[in-house]
Amino acid sequence: MTPPCKIYSSPEDLAVHLAEELKRLSNSLTTYEDKISIALSGGSTPKILFQLLAQPLYRDKIKWKKLHLFWGDERCVPPDHPESNYGMTRENLLQHIEIPESNIHRIRGEITPDAAAKAYSKVIRENVPPERDEIPRFDWVLLGVGEDGHTASLFPGSEVLRIKDKICAVAIHPVSGQKRITLTLPVINHAKKVTFLVAGESKRKVVSEILHQSEGFNKYPAAQVNPVQGELIWLLDKAACKIS
Ligand code: 6PG
Repeated sequence: MTPPCKIYSSPEDLAVHLAEELKRLSNSLTTYEDKISIALSGGSTPKILFQLLAQPLYRDKIKWKKLHLFWGDERCVPPDHPESNYGMTRENLLQHIEIPESNIHRIRGEITPDAAAKAYSKVIRENVPPERDEIPRFDWVLLGVGEDGHTASLFPGSEVLRIKDKICAVAIHPVSGQKRITLTLPVINHAKKVTFLVAGESKRKVVSEILHQSEGFNKYPAAQVNPVQGELIWLLDKAACKIS
């Protein structure tokens, strides 16, 4: 079944929708112990969202203390490296908001990939409770999609797509060879809510193939994101759709 999608006239409008949803979610929590676990997407698209959230309109209205931030994937680079997903989030959001350090659960890209995957799995186990069959259940996973249909660092044809018994794994970018740490598909598909945020004409072809379920669409890892008991939605700007 074609996943539900919403189309926005611009990436900025898309970001406003997500910022409003995050504000509502954080304010919906009443008791002290409630907290929300969110896995942020990497790449460049979320930058618009992070920059908006850092504005007083959202910075001062969202209950950051209720949010525990994770990442769907990370490049195996130090946090101050220009390609670090955490580094981009820190520069555009984290250093502008009042969020406890203990609520930020970055993937340690500076250590060896196997050690980083092991450490991140431990952090997730300790902070993201399972609700059934022992798989940690994130409240919300934000994802992007690459032109090749990858999501997080789950790349087409990768062995990592077949992993069923791990929380995260070491992946390798098929072009650059760069090592990455990624959530596995079972963890993504156990989330309560998964939202793709996709913008730009370069994604038009892959988005169309996935949303129209063209022949062979299921080879794309992004098409394999289908929460077992959760909400899935694709948020797109017009440039990413075939709407003129
Ligand atoms: C990463 C991401 C990756 C990203 C897509 C889209 O670490 O690169 O997690 O899955 O979401 O490649 O990236 P853009 O937003 O830069 O197009």
